[in-house]
Amino acid sequence: MRNDFIKERLEEALEVKSLRRIISAYLNYPEAAEKDVERFERLLLSHYPLKFQSIRRCISTNSFFIFNMLQAFEPPLDMSLDNFGCSHFEQPPSDRNVCSHESAAAKGLIANEITTGEVHTEGCLGSDTGSCLADQENCKTDECCRNHVSDSNGNVPLSSRDWLDPSLQFHVPLVDVDKVRCIIRNIVRDWAAEGQKERDQCYKPILKELNSLFPNRSSESPPACLVPGAGLGRLALEISCLGFVSQGNEFSYYMMICSSFILNQTETAGEWTIYPWIHSNCNSLSDSDQLRPVSIPDIHPASAGITEGFSMCGGDFVEVYSNPSHVGVWDAVVTCFFIDTAHNIIEYIEIISRILKDGGVWINLGPLLYHFADMYGQEDEMSIELSLEDVKRVVLNYGFEVVKESTIETTYTTNPRSMMQNRYFAAFWTMRKKSAAVEKHST
Ligand SMILES: C[S@@+](CC[C@H](N)C(=O)[O-])C[C@H]1O[C@@H](n2cnc3c(N)ncnc32)[C@H](O)[C@@H]1O
Repeated sequence: MRNDFIKERLEEALEVKSLRRIISAYLNYPEAAEKDVERFERLLLSHYPLKFQSIRRCISTNSFFIFNMLQAFEPPLDMSLDNFGCSHFEQPPSDRNVCSHESAAAKGLIANEITTGEVHTEGCLGSDTGSCLADQENCKTDECCRNHVSDSNGNVPLSSRDWLDPSLQFHVPLVDVDKVRCIIRNIVRDWAAEGQKERDQCYKPILKELNSLFPNRSSESPPACLVPGAGLGRLALEISCLGFVSQGNEFSYYMMICSSFILNQTETAGEWTIYPWIHSNCNSLSDSDQLRPVSIPDIHPASAGITEGFSMCGGDFVEVYSNPSHVGVWDAVVTCFFIDTAHNIIEYIEIISRILKDGGVWINLGPLLYHFADMYGQEDEMSIELSLEDVKRVVLNYGFEVVKESTIETTYTTNPRSMMQNRYFAAFWTMRKKSAAVEKHST
């Protein structure tokens, strides 16, 4: 019993370290960005001093946004816990997968170790008001709904914003800060007018499909739809607005801190300005392209017309949805640029099959850029890489039948004005779970 307690506390401590490192990555952003500017400043061209001035202004604007976002964040963990007997831990692991679909030229980062266990977070990150969109009451497992952690005496040991104190920050490797830059680009995909074209390529076909598969949705008892790997939450929100009880699932704190802020804290459309493209000097047609501002969010989430029960559930998809409480509860599962984030794609397929109701549908859109492929020499980074043909074979084996399939050409977090436009020919399918599929498979 005591061993279990110690193990749990150690795991939590490790998780806190990981979260602290992510927060530090956000806080390290201005300094790292300044270092980059200084590096290029050495190459002075005549008009460059002005450009550097502008870039510095853009960095401050981005930092202002980041700082406001962090201030609004309510850590779902006791942030003092990383002192709990953790001295033997290596540098804490950070997030993985956040930028897995960005082009190599844009991302330039290494996937890191997964956090141990589930990211215990609540369904309504960062909000303490009744008006939050991501509704914690509707988070289906209590693992994902823990809020305001206190110690055994009922105290929340660090005062609300102590974890933002510069003296408690890690100095993190630049690859971590790169993830912050990647989040800034992801914001364009999900929450800017500039991302509309990409959303039309990826999200619109999914929404259209859901709309036609559930033609007579009842508003009293709306169908339930799960979006694993929900990123910054726009697709999950759109599904909610379509009349579903929508739950996004996401395990990256980088993503969740940001989606929570946009979903729960923004007060008007266009409230914030960011400069997402300033960090990429490649394939830029002009300085003004590189320095252009982007207003976010393009809509006010709270006024978008969500269906009651919308939630964002933090945690590893495999861990959270392997819980028996999820068996046969979902009418639809929607995966967009997600299935190739798996160590073992078969495990994802098995869980999706198990959690769907009989007759439930799985809509998938995305490539097979297996995220853990080619991680030579890292024994714990298992990766099963199947061709599309084999993936579909496994899917059929898990009791699905094909309703529809096609290919969709799309970009992923691409700067629309860049000279480089990487395209995916993404698989797009709708599968229906046949009756008693799970029972059949498990015999
Ligand atoms: C390529 S992004 C796609 C995000 C979003 N669906 C979109 O289309 O923009 C994949 C997302 O899945 C998340 N992810 C990866 N593995 C996960 C897991 N095991 N459980 C939950 N989320 C995961 C990543 O953090 C990332 O946000």
